[in-house]
Amino acid sequence: MSVVYIQALRNLALRLETLKIHGHDQVAVTGDDWKNQMRAKLNKLNKKKAARERSASMPAGAKVGDNSLDDIRVEVEKCQKCALGKTRINTVFGVGDPNARLMFIGEGPGADEDRLGEPFVGRAGKLLNDMIQAMGLSRSDVYIANIVKCRPPGNRDPLPEEAAQCMPYLMRQLKMIRPEFLCALGAVPARNLLEKNEPIGKLRGSFHDFMGAKFLATYHPSYLLRNPAAKAESWKDLRLIMNEMGLKDPRGKNV
Ligand code: SF4
Ligand code: URA
Repeated sequence: MSVVYIQALRNLALRLETLKIHGHDQVAVTGDDWKNQMRAKLNKLNKKKAARERSASMPAGAKVGDNSLDDIRVEVEKCQKCALGKTRINTVFGVGDPNARLMFIGEGPGADEDRLGEPFVGRAGKLLNDMIQAMGLSRSDVYIANIVKCRPPGNRDPLPEEAAQCMPYLMRQLKMIRPEFLCALGAVPARNLLEKNEPIGKLRGSFHDFMGAKFLATYHPSYLLRNPAAKAESWKDLRLIMNEMGLKDPRGKNV
């Protein structure tokens, strides 16, 4: 085979390889663009790989076979496993980055969330957004869900049997998202997930292990609205998470 022929074959193989990767064989990018694109691709792949590795230790009770969060959402939307299904307007499944490193878990939808079908959109949600922003993140960087997906009437706490019926959905969400960090907002998610009946003041302030994720509980934003003096303690909790996540305080203070 002549050298020219071999070279032509090599070029063809290269073009085919490019086609496989990019979907087209003309990649009109500069050297720097290309490096940045490759770096972004690698970051994405590494994130997915890390997520897969975290999966090994995630919820034993989780159903296998979900391909996406939407698989779970579809089931939740028609769920009537507990009495809350009868009184809800909308199910409130969860919102945010499906590959989030950090997931917040509240207790259950309130009136605004029930009306809009999205968690933490009322006054407490506004404070939660501020808390997330103070960490140098935005709502779309994290994932937000609740222990129960339907509103308990009159904003009461979910009953233990309601939480128990709904928990498998949260476990399946965790299995799909595989966050490295979990932040429980208030006593209801902290007690239900840690299976401890202690006051939030005792459960907060330090990390627990939750199926391989670093779990930290803090005060619920609704509690902080009623007791602004507790915000300083809650901020300490968030800084613990920021420190572990390697996030810098956006206001330039040391974490
Ligand atoms: Fe189903 Fe959960 Fe709604 Fe109860 S709260 S009906 S278990 S989705
Ligand atoms: N409180 C919660 O615990 N969850 C919400 O989604 C809203 C308010």
